[in-house]
Amino acid sequence: MRDFTYVIPTRILFGKNQVQNLGGELASLGKKILLVYGTGSVKKTGVYDSVVGLLQRSSVSFYELSGVQPNPRVSSVRDGISLCRTHQIDGILAVGGGSVIDCAKTIATGFFYDGDPWELFLRGDSSIQKALPLGTVLTVAGTGSEMNGNAVISNEETKQKLAIHHDVLRPRFSILDPSLTFTVTREQTAAGVVDIFSHVLEQYFSPTREAFVQSRLAEGLLLTIRKYGPIAMEEPTNYEARAQVMWASSLALNGLLSYGRIADWATHGIEHAVSAVYDVTHGVGLAVLTPYWMDYVLDKETVGTFVDYAQNVWQIPNGDEFSVAKEGIEKTRGFFTSLGMPRTLHEIGVQQGSLKELAEKTISSHTIGRFKKLDTKDVLRILQNAL
Ligand code: NZQ
Ligand code: ZN
Repeated sequence: MRDFTYVIPTRILFGKNQVQNLGGELASLGKKILLVYGTGSVKKTGVYDSVVGLLQRSSVSFYELSGVQPNPRVSSVRDGISLCRTHQIDGILAVGGGSVIDCAKTIATGFFYDGDPWELFLRGDSSIQKALPLGTVLTVAGTGSEMNGNAVISNEETKQKLAIHHDVLRPRFSILDPSLTFTVTREQTAAGVVDIFSHVLEQYFSPTREAFVQSRLAEGLLLTIRKYGPIAMEEPTNYEARAQVMWASSLALNGLLSYGRIADWATHGIEHAVSAVYDVTHGVGLAVLTPYWMDYVLDKETVGTFVDYAQNVWQIPNGDEFSVAKEGIEKTRGFFTSLGMPRTLHEIGVQQGSLKELAEKTISSHTIGRFKKLDTKDVLRILQNAL
């Protein structure tokens, strides 16, 4: 196991009606708060009214940034920073999914940055020093943003989608009420399920072989998602299924699985290029790409991890190691298609003519992937296979 420093400072309030406890958490955000939300779901579901009612009954004053889109744009970040500066905001409350939370995180750190916030994504994580305190009320499970220090933002002008990572971006608190996700559509639920599954896989397929505890924890989360993901889709108001998916989602990407080991993240890199250019739902892009990435990186050196995965997650019996590994990959593909996910990039509108651009966007100046290093040619082959 590699050395690490464990930091997961986010207070989690998990369960039914936890929003009612928001008032007690507000002190950690300050006296003037920016409320950030998306394109309308919070108003339809009533969570906006609950949150605003609580804010009005508290001693804080608040301003609003609405309309944050899925695959959040840097233009929303700019608007949010300008509101924070005008009103001398102390802290941010994000109510929504990964897109809203990521936008809020970038506003929180962009507030302290003199230049344009997009520069933070180009300059890298070392340019991040501090951030306004952030709290979240999560309304859709998938990204794990509610408990981690990542933010992913799209730039419409340059057609790029890039990420920043820093512990100062981790929320101070997150309210996780699974019943707030009852209204998430079947398609979005499935996209979240694939995203969670993929987050675990990105860390499971690691070059660090000495990570027994991390791998067994990862398999536990994969088994949880395999069991409860389909139930959450079929029975959207099944509290237990929504609860299992929501908590698995937070644990999948809060650092628990990656401390002490190197993670891969190649599939996410490729997907971010696809969704930057085609604006596809993140989980849908991952559902197509993940099995093709697996096919591509399976070789003599990597087969052992694939065998563990096939046997411990899909209960494939002993046999020739490559046959077992391939069966595990087919089970993964079958699981995603059983959730209604497409099998090819063609089905989500990706054109042959753009594959080179996508490969170049994925890898600007270096290789991608740590389980198996990939260069631009490798990424192009994966994209061609997935078309
Ligand atoms: O716009 P609103 O009204 O919020 O509607 C959203 C949106 O249309 C809707 N929704 C949310 N809660 C709902 C609901 N609809 C009904 N009932 C509810 N309770 O769902 C749609 C999708 O929301 P979004 O926030 O975009 O989904 P998700 O949480 O999957 O976030 C996706 C974004 O996060 C990034 C993705 O790339 C993408 O940009 N990621 C962030 C990560 C992170 N911060 O750690 C890691 C991930 O790998 C990922 O890259
Ligand atoms: Zn993801």
